[in-house]
Amino acid sequence: MINRSIAIDGPAGSGKSTIAKIIAKENNLMYINTGAMYRAVTYYAIKAGISYDEVSKLIDLIDNLEMHFEGDRLIVNGTDITDELTYPEISNNVSNYAAVKEVREKLVSFQQKMSQKYEVIMDGRDIGTVVLKDAKYKFFLTAKAEERAKRRCKELIEKGIEVDFNNILEEIEKRDYIDTHREINPLTKADDAMEIDTSSMTIDEVVKKISGLLN
Ligand code: DC
Repeated sequence: MINRSIAIDGPAGSGKSTIAKIIAKENNLMYINTGAMYRAVTYYAIKAGISYDEVSKLIDLIDNLEMHFEGDRLIVNGTDITDELTYPEISNNVSNYAAVKEVREKLVSFQQKMSQKYEVIMDGRDIGTVVLKDAKYKFFLTAKAEERAKRRCKELIEKGIEVDFNNILEEIEKRDYIDTHREINPLTKADDAMEIDTSSMTIDEVVKKISGLLN
């Protein structure tokens, strides 16, 4: 299965999940949003009062989470928590939980199992470099931080969440820093990934570019 799989990496707001969702539908692939999985762990950890440095408690917590995707929705222990995952409290804390080695090991192993069972399109930070090293197609999406912050603001406003552009930009830059500087599997472009700067491209243009490369 792994050979028809598509890996998409890139920083927050580069368009990964929007693009991956469309390509999944068009090509009948299972869409795995790995960022949502790290966010789900963060959501339940915060709810249970577990800090990111309480590793054994985190592992126990993850062992008790049954996660699966239904389209682009993430279902955890039978509840659809997708909408809660974009709350600022989660966005501001997720990078710290995602930097914990044991958390990554658990989630990477789960993601690899999914890719053995299904044909997948997976987006995240370490998909082309770690999770799906043998993926047939690898893309690395980028965009200027200001453009990414603009997109995030628009998304949140559409969900009825009040936003401040400068706060969002600051949060994105902080997250970029942690994601690219962490010790375990930092965000980097795989040598064999194609880089696409989406700053001045429409969603449709990016989808067309990627689709044109699949065969
Ligand atoms: O894609 P996103 O913004 O929803 O991801 C949320 C966070 O999860 C991001 O700051 C880094 C982390 N993440 C990761 O470390 N590895 C992945 N494969 C996906 C996300």
